[in-house]
Amino acid sequence: MSELKLLSVVSEIYPLVKTGGLADVAGALPAALKAQGVAVRTLVPGYPAVMAALGAREEAFYFDHLFGAPARLYAATAAGLDLFVIDAPHLYDRPGGPYTGTDGRDYVDNAQRFAALGAVASGIGLGLVPGFVPDVVHAHDWQAGLAPAYLHYASGRRPGTVMSIHNIAFQGQFPASVAPLLGLPAHAFSMGGIEYYGTVGYLKAGLQLADRITTVSPGYAAEILQPEAGMGLEGLLNQRRGVLSGILNGLDAAAWDPAADSLLPSPFDAKRLDARAANKAALQARFGLPQEPDTLLFGVVSRLSWQKGLDLLMDGLGTLIDIGAQLVVLGSGDPQLTERYAGSARVNPGRVGVQFGYDEELAHLIQAGSDALLVPSRFEPCGLTQLAALRYGALPVVARVGGLADTVIDVNEMARASGVGTGVQFSPVTVPALQNALTRTHALWQDKTLWRTLQRNAMATDVSWDRAARAYAELFRNLARERAA
Ligand code: ADP
Ligand code: GLC
Repeated sequence: MSELKLLSVVSEIYPLVKTGGLADVAGALPAALKAQGVAVRTLVPGYPAVMAALGAREEAFYFDHLFGAPARLYAATAAGLDLFVIDAPHLYDRPGGPYTGTDGRDYVDNAQRFAALGAVASGIGLGLVPGFVPDVVHAHDWQAGLAPAYLHYASGRRPGTVMSIHNIAFQGQFPASVAPLLGLPAHAFSMGGIEYYGTVGYLKAGLQLADRITTVSPGYAAEILQPEAGMGLEGLLNQRRGVLSGILNGLDAAAWDPAADSLLPSPFDAKRLDARAANKAALQARFGLPQEPDTLLFGVVSRLSWQKGLDLLMDGLGTLIDIGAQLVVLGSGDPQLTERYAGSARVNPGRVGVQFGYDEELAHLIQAGSDALLVPSRFEPCGLTQLAALRYGALPVVARVGGLADTVIDVNEMARASGVGTGVQFSPVTVPALQNALTRTHALWQDKTLWRTLQRNAMATDVSWDRAARAYAELFRNLARERAA
């Protein structure tokens, strides 16, 4: 097997900068692909956190002018990742997040900031850095959506392009006035190009012009062909369904290993499930809840947003209280939801505990200490928290959508008979169905022997990256072969 060179293009990467699962995927896939003979370099914007983390770096290119000012491209390593970093202080050197300022609002020049990412990716694809000329360019989400477009409109030999959808709800749409700034030929601003209902659509551009399209679960790949989940792009996706596939995400096995997790008071594994109890006690203490081993403890680790369906949990909370359960929530995001959760903790002392903000350690403790992890998402391209829950023996209670449906086996009668259940699914994604799932979970909890079996089933689920990496590697190889022919 000859080594294939892949340029991964992404706007966040764990552990350097992360707002969600996209960073986890971008951070874990390179090592998994390496085992499949794919050499990955990842192109990321030089945000302050990225620049600060760089080890030895080498200037790979100098741009006299990159969307407004000079910039440098560095080849560097950080946290074991091989990177290309765009050092463009006028675009990326600011306080705040990767997409929003300290006021929580989108940066006004996001169109330029991520056009630069696409343009530099294209440049590398066309041979800007002689030491690394990729066979395939892999663009993640709208922020990288222009990479396939720049490559499509370039002349000469180009690498294959793959556009991966992690969340179709975020599309990177900008006013038509952005089009002339991009340095693409004028005819690119058309229906067959980057134009999207009179605007410029970065994700649309990638979906239109990439050689292949992937998304992060087979279930979501099917859902986005329908209007309910396609968010306006279902027509285009149906036209291109021949090149669309779903590849289920894995979980970073080193970062999420209950037997060797330094963030836990009491590491454990499927053979030492008793050691899990100390984590539950620590978790209850952390949230000021009574340390009752026999009380069913539900956990949530999530962005607080409409997608995640956490308003439904607030609406259905009465059931959770009625069955005598406890709830701990770690989340950040929507201010209104934050207020509702804070309120519910106030009126349910000893039963509901909340913490807001981003806390890696607490996320691990919740996975290791809660009995069940709730993920009531309205839609979920893949979802990583239910994968961690499986690995940590917190039974996932999930909405039957997207990647949640693909990764959790509902403990129905049939699954029970054949002993394969790993969690609870509910559908439709409504308050009554969620409440019913809470009650069902509580009924399962009463049977301690069954619960243990389910935990062991869950923990035996293969959530590694191997299978996905094999699927990506095959897709990249086929594409590279096709381009070479
Ligand atoms: P999404 O990317 O849609 O937010 P995923 O389930 O794919 O959902 O990924 C979420 C990732 O972010 C997981 O690694 C999860 O553990 C982490 N996470 C979410 N919220 C928090 C939080 N408040 N603190 C720490 N980690 C969080
Ligand atoms: C997005 C999706 C999530 C998925 C993640 C990584 O953030 O919302 O479902 O797991 O990307 O692919």
